[in-house]
Amino acid sequence: MSILSGKHILLGVTGSIAGYKAADLASKLAQAGAQVDVILTGAGQKFITPLTLQSVTGRRAYTDDDLWGNEAHVLHVSFGKTADLLVIAPCTANTIAKLAHGIADNLLTVTALAATCPILIAPAMDGGMFDHPATQENLSTLLSRGVLVAGPASGHLASGLSGKGRMVEPAEIFGHIRLALGKNGKLAGKKVVVTAGGTQEAIDPVRVITNHSSGKQGYALAQAALDSGADVCLITAPTALTPPVGARVVNVSSVQQMLEAVLAESADALIMAAAAADFRPAQIAKDKLKKRDGIPQVQLKAAPDILKTVAGSGADAKRFKVVVGFAAESQSLLENAAEKLKSKKLDFIVANDISADDAGFAVETNRATLLFADGLREAMPLMTKTEVAEKIIEHISKLLE
Ligand code: CTP
Repeated sequence: MSILSGKHILLGVTGSIAGYKAADLASKLAQAGAQVDVILTGAGQKFITPLTLQSVTGRRAYTDDDLWGNEAHVLHVSFGKTADLLVIAPCTANTIAKLAHGIADNLLTVTALAATCPILIAPAMDGGMFDHPATQENLSTLLSRGVLVAGPASGHLASGLSGKGRMVEPAEIFGHIRLALGKNGKLAGKKVVVTAGGTQEAIDPVRVITNHSSGKQGYALAQAALDSGADVCLITAPTALTPPVGARVVNVSSVQQMLEAVLAESADALIMAAAAADFRPAQIAKDKLKKRDGIPQVQLKAAPDILKTVAGSGADAKRFKVVVGFAAESQSLLENAAEKLKSKKLDFIVANDISADDAGFAVETNRATLLFADGLREAMPLMTKTEVAEKIIEHISKLLE
């Protein structure tokens, strides 16, 4: 179940050209199952209409006219009390100033002042306005009060100038919203390390040996751990994916780099979802291998086994309280997975049949069986990688209880 499902999100929209992006954000939130109530300021309405926002949320969008209507009292007080989060995106320098000084002169700022839920703002303004000491001081005040701030980003501004002040993209704000909602989840205060993607083993400066891993399952695990409130370190081999907002990302390429990155961490849980190489070239050619020198014979040697290193009895054995591995198999799935569970001393292993079209590498779904150290097994039906990730995180939090 999505972390947004059933959540009540108040979305404030103030007067910025980035207002048009609020429709995309509102739509993403509504599609994820949230109940989204939009409040536009007068200036916000100059950039985007209530109708546009209503059309994507399926609910009424509110304006200052509602401040003086029959529901007025109910609206501003109840909104800020019943909502799980008040998000103001875009949030102008003017609204930031009002929030910092407790000014409540429109429905949105009245609601913000009455709100007991957390507040997240996504500033949007011209670079000079963002850099102005008044704005910086107002932002510091808000940060010191626990207001969450997403962005702004640097880049092209509506003024034609380039600088810091662009509202971060809706997908990124969505990530910040997840982070805020997950904060007090089952894994709050716990640290989880996730590895993802297929390692790349260099043959020469141009060529690598790699595998078909897309990193999707690992990234979904990092997101699910964040949704549960964990502090997440994502150690990732190159992938085409955007890391989830809130994860500390360590980029690696080879299995040796991944091993070193894992050994630099200690955490409550390690989830080895990466397809780390088992073999790597015995020699990495310093210069590009040339065709004219004939077909090269690439000699392979064993790569370090990361899980065996952390599961061993040496100094690295106690770095992680719970260790989870994956077994990607094209035959004898459960036998091979059971063997790996034991030899790598795991708490549990996620066995994937990669011979099926709808499971394994690059696809959106997995058909996994969980095998636990105590002999228990749980066969899961065909699920999205997100659902598989949520199940795995559920089991990890039980083991950490
Ligand atoms: N793994 C690891 N270090 C490696 C290779 C794999 O830690 N050098 C981890 C993977 O991340 C996975 C688990 O070991 O969690 C099992 O990986 P898999 O490739 O299925 O098994 P291997 O042990 O490599 O054995 P084989 O390739 O022979 O099936």
